[in-house]
Formats: sequence, structure tokens, C-alpha cells
Amino acid sequence: MSNLQQNSGRSAFDIPTSDVMTQLPTQFFATLVQNVNHEIASGHDVINLGQGNPDTPTPPHIVKTLQESAENPLYHKYSPFSGHAFLKEAIAKRYQEDYNVDLDPETEVAILFGGKTGLVQLPQVLLNPGDVCLVPDPGYPDYWSGVALAKAQMSFMPLLESNAFLPDYEAISDEVRDKAKLMYLNYPNNPTSATAPLSFYEDTVEFAIRNKIVIASDFAYGAIGFDGHRPVSFLQAPGAKEVGIEFYTLSKTYNMAGWRVGFALGNAEIISKINLLQDHIYVSLFGGIQAAAAAALTSSQQCVTELVARYESRRNALYEALSSIGWVASKPGGSFFSWLPVPSGFTSAEFADLLLREAKVAVAPGIGFGTHGEGYVRAGLLSDEKRLEEAARRIGKLNLFK
Ligand SMILES: Cc1ncc(COP(=O)(O)O)c(C=O)c1O
Repeated sequence: MSNLQQNSGRSAFDIPTSDVMTQLPTQFFATLVQNVNHEIASGHDVINLGQGNPDTPTPPHIVKTLQESAENPLYHKYSPFSGHAFLKEAIAKRYQEDYNVDLDPETEVAILFGGKTGLVQLPQVLLNPGDVCLVPDPGYPDYWSGVALAKAQMSFMPLLESNAFLPDYEAISDEVRDKAKLMYLNYPNNPTSATAPLSFYEDTVEFAIRNKIVIASDFAYGAIGFDGHRPVSFLQAPGAKEVGIEFYTLSKTYNMAGWRVGFALGNAEIISKINLLQDHIYVSLFGGIQAAAAAALTSSQQCVTELVARYESRRNALYEALSSIGWVASKPGGSFFSWLPVPSGFTSAEFADLLLREAKVAVAPGIGFGTHGEGYVRAGLLSDEKRLEEAARRIGKLNLFK
């Protein structure tokens, strides 16, 4: 039998790998997921606060719109390349209502396959090899992937508790400012749960103009603000559209993480570049999903109010329980994460391992988000109050905070 007929499943020759694939960052959290799965497979009741997947379902009116739209033959055809006008109009209307920001649906909105796709595409449409991208540390690891795919370089902006987890622009050297072409920001922040005031974005616009740096504001948790405060959008700062864009996603606002609907909003030149790249890769989202996404954005926002109230109630329950075991941390102002200091004597990875092994509670070690994430672990508010209190009770039994 010849090699071809044997069909062993092994490659007949060395399959090539592009250099860029070898440059992709390693997936730090893959090991954590494996360890959690191992504990669960061994029969343990693990309280998993390590991930960022919304735990409650998409509101029924949105699901119903998808069900009905699935029968519309119009949506069985290719969607328009850059998506349906009605969806772009719906997000523009939402920004007008929620943030008093004007967006031209035709030129200032790009529809994305989830926010992640746009965040990873952006360096590919703006940067050349050797260009520098300013990235928050700690930060969402997908920024690193986009920069690697563009063969650009990262320069990290430390987010320190002493500076309210905002970057200190004064600390960025002249050399980095010269080479930097793009900066990612993300408030409410993953992982630190910090929020940013409008004055910070005003300073950011000024810094961007002075140094010719495009700003990419990742507003994934834009809907989730506590204690009566709606998080500020970067686009609310005067001049923001002249220097950058904002990424918005339906994943967290409407529990639609699996639906993959996101947007890039703002500077028309950047939006057209994103649309151009996407024209070469995709033909927009399934029309039925676009119809359901538009329904989410244009119908009553009561479901969002209820979701935010749920996270706030969980936050309060968790922090009360943590303080009763002596684990002191400042309460998050937004997002669905808590950023908790690691007790002395442990690295964040050692501490997360210990909590998983001894308390069967999974948290994400801060080091996975960057060097300046060391000293913290991230816990999600993605279980109900009882489970969060139970997590704190189990951790309390380890007597680590007395
Ligand atoms: C900070 C941040 N940005 C962007 C995203 C991407 O969201 P999606 O791709 O679901 O829109 C996430 C998801 O966890 C996130 O935490």
C-alpha cells in the first residue's frame, strides 16, 4: 500500500508554520482551566470564580427575535458586507441615549464578530513591524495577540493601585512616545475592576494629539457600573473621535457572549480600515443575529438595569463575606470582577493553586494579566450570593488573613 492509501492521519511532510504563529503569546490560563477541570473530574464541588463568562441567560425578548428572524428568507442570503444598516443605527441610537455621543451609523460604526475580533484586528490595520503599541499592565491578554499578529512591539503601561489603576502618561519616555502609534485602554477594567473619570479621557485625548497616538478604548464592561454611576465612555471626551475609537460588545451588557456581536465606534478613517480588512475575511454576521442584536439595543433596557443590580448585590455579598474573614480589598466600581490582594508569602499563582487545592475555589492569578498583576488574584462575580459567601467561608477556614 502506498503512503497515501494508508491514511494514517499523520502529515506526509513537515507542515510549515508562519513566523507570526510562533510569536503568539502562550495561553497562561489554559493550565488553570485544566487544573479546575481536573478537580471537578475528581468529584470536587469547585466554585469557579476564575473565568469571565456571564452566568445568566440572554433576556428572552432577544432570543425570541432570533427565533423569529431565523425564518426570514432575507437573512438566509449573504448579509451586506459591513452589516445591516438597522444594526448600525441601533448602536448609534444607544450611544446617543446612554452617553450623549453622536455617531454616524454609516461611517463611524463597524460591526464585529465580538469585541475580541476587532481588538485583535486593530494593530493589523494600523501598525507595521517595529511600531510600538502601548498596552495596560495588568490587562486583557488579547491585546498582546493583536500586537503579535501585526509583528509590532508592546510597551507596557503599569496600572498601579496608588494611581487608581490608571496609566501615568508622564512616566512614558520620549523614545516610547516617538515610536508608539496605538494605545489600548480598558475601563471599567479587566482585571482590576477600576473605572475611569471623564477627566482621565480628556487628558488622554490631549496626550494622543501631542504624541500622534491612536486610542483604542475597550468598553466591554461599559454597562456595568455600581452605586448609581454609569461608566464614562471615552467618546464622551471632546475630540475623542479625532484620535481614536471605542470597542463595545453585547457579550456582557446582554449576556450574549456566545452570540459574538461587537462594534468599533468613532474615528471614520479607522472604522473604514477595519471594514476593509473585514471585507477580505468575512461577510458580516448572520442577519438573524443582527436583528436580535438590534432588538437588544433598541428595546427596553430594564434587563440591563436588573443585570447590573444583580452584580452589585453579589459584589456587596462577596465583600461583606471577605471582610468577615479578614480579607480586605477596595470594592469594585464597575465590571463583574474583584481584584483582591494576595496575602504575603505567596505569589499570585501559588495562592490561586492553594485556593483551588485546599478550598476548591478557583480564582485567576494576577500574573496571567501581566507583571504588574502580581500580588493580586481576580475573582468574578459570576455565581450567586450563596456561592460567593460559601467561597469566602471555605477560604476563611484556611486562616490566611488573621
Ligand atoms: C476587557 C475585555 N475586552 C474585550 C472582551 C471581548 O469580549 P467579546 O469578544 O465577547 O465581545 C472581553 C471578554 O472577556 C474582555 O474582558
